[in-house]
Amino acid sequence: MAEKIKFIDGKLFVPVNPEIIFIRGDGIGPEIMEASMLVWNAAVERIYRGKRRIYWKEVLIGERALKEYGTLLPDETIREINDHVIAIKSPVKTPVGGGYKSLNVELRKIFDLYANIRPVKWIEGIPSPLKNPENIDLVIFRENTEDVYIGLEWESTDPQATKIREFFRESLKVNIREDAGIALKTISEFATKRLVRKAVEYAIENNRRKITIVHKGNIMKYTEGAFLKWALEVLEEEFGNITATGKEEGRITFDSRIADDMFQQLILHPQKYDILIAPNLNGDYLSDAAAALVGGLGIAPGMNIGDKVAIFEAVHGTAPDIAGKNIANPLSLIFSGALMFKYMGWGEVAQAIESAAKETIRSQKVTLDLAEKLDVEPLGTMEFAQEIVKALDQS
Ligand code: NAI
Repeated sequence: MAEKIKFIDGKLFVPVNPEIIFIRGDGIGPEIMEASMLVWNAAVERIYRGKRRIYWKEVLIGERALKEYGTLLPDETIREINDHVIAIKSPVKTPVGGGYKSLNVELRKIFDLYANIRPVKWIEGIPSPLKNPENIDLVIFRENTEDVYIGLEWESTDPQATKIREFFRESLKVNIREDAGIALKTISEFATKRLVRKAVEYAIENNRRKITIVHKGNIMKYTEGAFLKWALEVLEEEFGNITATGKEEGRITFDSRIADDMFQQLILHPQKYDILIAPNLNGDYLSDAAAALVGGLGIAPGMNIGDKVAIFEAVHGTAPDIAGKNIANPLSLIFSGALMFKYMGWGEVAQAIESAAKETIRSQKVTLDLAEKLDVEPLGTMEFAQEIVKALDQS
C-alpha cells in the first residue's frame, strides 16, 4: 500500500512505499519520462529487493490539463502536489498567446519554491568545450522568486508606464525615455537569507567545502550589493562556527565574485569553485553556461525547493523539433530523479543510477545528441535507458 511522504516537525519523513507525483509533460516529455521511470524503478528494485518501492501518481498540467479540466493548472494538481511534498516533472509547454503565463513560473510561485539548485559535474566520455572538464564539480543555488523575474513589467506605451514616468519625473527628478519599457527589480533580505541558509544546509549535508556569492553589487548597490551583504550576514552571524574566510581546516570557506568575473572564472579556473549562490537573473545565465561546459542542457539535472514542496525537473524544454522520434536524451530527467532520491534519503539509489549511467556513457552507448559528437551509432531514448538498466544489473 502506498503512503505519503510528509514533513514532520520540519523533517522529511519518507515511508518505504512512498507515492510520488509525476508530470508527463509535452513534446519529448512523455518519452523521457517513460525511459527515466524504467531506470528509477529498476534502481530501487536492485538496491532494496522489494523492501522499498515507489508508487507513481500522475497529475496533469498544461494542454493535457486544459483538455481534461478546462484549465492549465487544475486545483486538483495543486492539491496533489501539496499533499505529496515531492513531484518530478518533464518539461511542459506553455501555450503561446491567450495571455498564459509560464506554467513553470506559476508552479514556483504557488509552492514558493525559492531555491533553484543545479549540480554541474562532468561525466567521463561526454564531449566538453573545456580541456579539463573533470575540474568542474559545482552546485549552483539560484534565487527563484525575486529580481527582474517578478513579472512587474510595462510596455513603453502602457498607460501605467506613463504614470510611472510621471512619478519619476515629478518626485525623483529622473527622466525615463518615452519609448522605454519599464521593469522592476527587487531583492529582499528575507528571500536572500533563506536561500543562503538552504545553501549552507546543503553544503553541510553534502560535504561541500566552499561557498561563493555571485553578485553585481558594484553597479546595483541596493539590490545586488544588498544580496551580498545579507548573504555575508548569514554566513558570518548564523553559521560563524562552521564557516571561515580563509582556509581553516574543517570549515566551509566563503568568498564573493562579481558576476561578469564569475563567468570567466568558470571557464579559466572552475576547480576553485564549489557552491555558487546567485540572484535570479545571473543565476539563470550561470546555470546554462555551466551546463554547457559539461555537455549541455540535455544532461544537467535540476530541482526547485521550498520549505514544504520540492519539484525535480529536467532543465531543458519540450524540444518539439525532436518529439515523438525516440531520439531525445533522457539523462537530464534521469539525473533529476537521482537528485530526488538523494533528497529522500535514498542516496544508494541515486549512486547506483549515476554509476550505471556513467558506465553506459563510458562505453559510448549514447543518444543522438552525443553520438553525433562522438561519431558513434546512436541509441534510441528507450534503448539507452535499457542499457543503463543492464549496467545496473552488472554493478
Ligand atoms: P528546448 O530545451 O526544448 O530545445 C532547445 C534545443 O535543445 C532543441 O534543438 C532541442 O531539440 C534540444 N534538446 C532539448 N532537450 C533535449 C534532449 N533531452 N535531448 C536532445 N536534445 C534536446 O528549448 P526551446 O525550444 O526554447 O523550448 C521549447 C518549449 O519548451 C517551449 O514551449 C518552452 O516554453 C518549453 N520549456 C519548458 C521548460 C520546462 O517545462 N521546465 C523549460 C524550458 C522551456
